[in-house]
Amino acid sequence: MDFFSAISNMKEITHQTSFSVYDSKDELPADVRGLMDEAIAIRKTAYAPYSKFRVGAALILDNGKTVLGSNQENAAYPSGLCAERVAVFQTGAIYPEAKIVKMAISAASDTNTTTSPIPPCGACRQSIAEYEFKQGSDIEIYFMGETGTVYKSDSLKNLLPFTFDKNFL
Ligand code: THU
Repeated sequence: MDFFSAISNMKEITHQTSFSVYDSKDELPADVRGLMDEAIAIRKTAYAPYSKFRVGAALILDNGKTVLGSNQENAAYPSGLCAERVAVFQTGAIYPEAKIVKMAISAASDTNTTTSPIPPCGACRQSIAEYEFKQGSDIEIYFMGETGTVYKSDSLKNLLPFTFDKNFL
């Protein structure tokens, strides 16, 4: 069979994701607006002397508790940790039986004003995915910059298609 007559069975898969877009946090449902306000407040505790980039994360659990996190940097740069993972790992440690229902994230720079929604990094997406698998239910994720538009994802899966999970082990 020569090159030109080779038959390919290649197929294409289309993967669709969708987000809700709010023009500002004022448009959010009252409970989420409150959660975002907590993310904004805890953002100020970020230890970010190197990047000057502050992130706050606030989680509401099915037991009614709120867990907060901010990014914590280190002179050995990779030893630092993002706000989302500080909050999610803290949840696992303090309330190991609880389910995370909603997560609000706000990111701001000391050097410029962030106005577009700032999503969690890839490593945080993978970490959040673990908790969706563990708890067997979706986590609503709301994210924004310092001001402006807020994106909402109904599940981490919109942010990380083809997630690696324990079923592959
Ligand atoms: N950071 C977060 O806290 N969350 C993210 O999803 C992206 C990045 C932090 C890590 C580091 O302290 C700073 O932002 C700059 O990357």
